[in-house]
Amino acid sequence: MEDYILAAEELRKEALARLENVTDEKGLEEFYVAYLAKKGSIPGLMIHMKDVADKAAFGAAVNKARTEVTASYEEKKAALAEKALNAKLLSERIDITLPATPTKTGHVNPYRLIIDEVTDIFLQMGYEVCEGRDVETDKFNFELLNVPKDHPSRDMQDTFYFGDDYLLRTQTSAAQAHKMSEMAEKKPIRMIAPGKAYRRDDDDMTHSHQFAQIEGLVVDKGISIANLKATLELFAKKMFGQKREIRLRSSYFPFTEPSVEVDVSCFNCGGKGCAMCKGTGWIEILGAGMVNPRVLEACGYDPEVYSGFAFGVGVERVAMLRYGIDDIRRFYQNDFRFLKDYPVK
Ligand code: DAH
Repeated sequence: MEDYILAAEELRKEALARLENVTDEKGLEEFYVAYLAKKGSIPGLMIHMKDVADKAAFGAAVNKARTEVTASYEEKKAALAEKALNAKLLSERIDITLPATPTKTGHVNPYRLIIDEVTDIFLQMGYEVCEGRDVETDKFNFELLNVPKDHPSRDMQDTFYFGDDYLLRTQTSAAQAHKMSEMAEKKPIRMIAPGKAYRRDDDDMTHSHQFAQIEGLVVDKGISIANLKATLELFAKKMFGQKREIRLRSSYFPFTEPSVEVDVSCFNCGGKGCAMCKGTGWIEILGAGMVNPRVLEACGYDPEVYSGFAFGVGVERVAMLRYGIDDIRRFYQNDFRFLKDYPVK
């Protein structure tokens, strides 16, 4: 009779021994079905209860078998799950020591780098940046700038027109006319306007139908050509180096009087004469002048009270000199082999 108690004890030992040999989830599942499930051999012991005299002892033995085997089974289950997880983690491990696939980053077009640099210099001097617009009216691009409809100087700027009145601006100077006209109270102005300008032009190494300019305008009481010279000298030194000097040569623009071309001493040879400055020691960088009183007046400023100076920098020209670029068309061909040589910023 006590054999059943012994049998329960044997079954407990046998199950624990078998569990030792289980190494995977499938084996564990089979083990569960064989020993612990409803129809498994440990619960199956209970059918002998009716034949046992010492039911309490038998019950305790069966219970012991079930509790111990279940506990060991749970332990094994957790161990196997952890083993499986570790194997998975290992197989999915990313080797962070491998070099990453390089990502392609964009590059700033070198003419933009020049605009940023010039803008920084004038912001430091307290100028504001005005956007201007690419599509202009005849009034702002020409008439307010002292270029009436029949004026011969229009011939200097072959133009893309849309009908009679609208055009792609031929010069950022149009932004001056906007700024002055749009000042509700006629107060002092210190502004620059970087942006594109367009002319119907031959496309060759030094001409493009589209190019960038930076316009500058200062209007205040008592502005003289000395202010113009001092400002542009400071600009030239910051842009091209402290040793640079500038010289003014007289010129003609309808919207300035007097007008000048501004040269900077060659930053390649220091003024001795080289291929870059064509042996002259000087490089032309911009046009400038005192704002023509007619322009002030047309834009609502009293020329008896106010005076001003203006300038216009050709951006690609400066970029070509700064970076040794030989052909203006490169700026607009969107060729990555060209752009990639310039900083990302
Ligand atoms: N608008 C002129 C051009 O496109 C450049 C220029 C010259 C602008 C003299 C100015 C200036 O403001 O004062 O050739």
